[in-house]
Amino acid sequence: MERYAIKGGNPLVGEVEIGGAKNAALPILAASTMTNETVYIDNMPDVRDINVMLSAMKDIGVLEERTGRHQVTLNAGNIHSLVVENDSIKKIRASYYLVGALLGKYHHAEVALPGGCDIGCRAIDQHIKGFKALGAEVVIEHGLIKAKAENLVGNHIYMDCVSVGATINILMAATLAEGTTIIENAAKEPHVVDLANFLNSMGARIKGAGTDVIRVKGVTKLHGSEYTIIPDQIEAGTFMFAAAITKGDILVKNVIPKHLESITAKLLEIGCEVEESDDCMRVVASKPLKTTHVKTLPYPGYPTDMQPQITTALAMAQGTSIVTDTIFENRFKYVDELIKMGANIKVEGTTAIIDGVGHFTGATISAPDLRAGAALVLAALSADGFTLVEDIQYIERGYEDFPEKLQSLGAQIEFVENERDFQKFQLKTG
Ligand code: UD1
Repeated sequence: MERYAIKGGNPLVGEVEIGGAKNAALPILAASTMTNETVYIDNMPDVRDINVMLSAMKDIGVLEERTGRHQVTLNAGNIHSLVVENDSIKKIRASYYLVGALLGKYHHAEVALPGGCDIGCRAIDQHIKGFKALGAEVVIEHGLIKAKAENLVGNHIYMDCVSVGATINILMAATLAEGTTIIENAAKEPHVVDLANFLNSMGARIKGAGTDVIRVKGVTKLHGSEYTIIPDQIEAGTFMFAAAITKGDILVKNVIPKHLESITAKLLEIGCEVEESDDCMRVVASKPLKTTHVKTLPYPGYPTDMQPQITTALAMAQGTSIVTDTIFENRFKYVDELIKMGANIKVEGTTAIIDGVGHFTGATISAPDLRAGAALVLAALSADGFTLVEDIQYIERGYEDFPEKLQSLGAQIEFVENERDFQKFQLKTG
């Protein structure tokens, strides 16, 4: 089992290029099954969740050709099965996007229930409510979501909570339904907009994505498209916080600054300097970090996927901060690991009360999920001494070349397989 060996203490300095957004790429891949024509997608991140999705699509007959590390050509003209049971697909959250896509095109889909990070209960009632409103029968049997419809007919759907996944799933099914669908209280995240833009590029008629009311006029057929995925908001935000946490100076390139506004606002509040240009953000942390309070919210609020990174930064600030995660109820599991590194944090329900300790010390820690794993790596990079980060497979689900990108900024981080490798790393860097 691979782990990261890290020697902390170097401020991260330099430039880093941000890749395509994983959470946009996943539904875009699913949506590419909705046409029989060929689809060409650029800026596809090369991360584990994407590769799992591609392999599940291949299993049901989608032809796939990687024309470059970040380019893929897909053709779903010969899908031979509407049952997606691939073992690894069960581990990723986005498997359920194939329900909306296949239900829209074939009026039938059976897909393994979603996995993903264990950060809360992650219900799918709003997805089911939406599919049913469009005329589908939906049951959960033998670990599969089974959705079937004679006809899909547009409807007026009010979402009981703001859900990225449910908005995207309903959007896909409604694209090929008869008549008009109106989704109220829709999610406004950049990846929802990217998916809508992709569907429109294939001939869909979607208006209002990015607001909380989305209108979809159903079309009978979609055509091929060439599309470039947006930059990853969360990867960008993670590197912006890497500057804050390691007291560094990082130019984060290939971003959409508008998508990073809530993150930028918090970095300024905690005392970092942030310079914005057309498609870059520079973050400089030359002064001690200050405290703040944070509540995660749906976009354009502060993202829950950036919660562990800011909690880690605040654990180093002088004074008390409060962070509340209003989206997921179990997203502070990594705090026990930060405590091993010297943090002083008390979690009560969905709130963390953080008494900043100034600095961390290295320890053996384990990544409990994707974003928390990345935040723990940043903590280790700022810590005195050596850290061993276990369970890095979570981090690899969503960050492409994470250790290599950190190394290019001056980080001392390496993959190690066993205790001996770790000792060698300590000798080499100590
Ligand atoms: C997506 C992202 C994830 C991010 C989250 C919130 C992907 C692959 N994952 O997850 O990284 O943390 O958005 O920005 O894009 N809910 C229900 N019923 C439902 C659906 C959701 O109660 O049917 C609740 C969830 O339990 C949660 C909240 O709504 O409390 C938000 O969930 P949702 O936006 O659906 O998150 P995901 O799409 O799973």
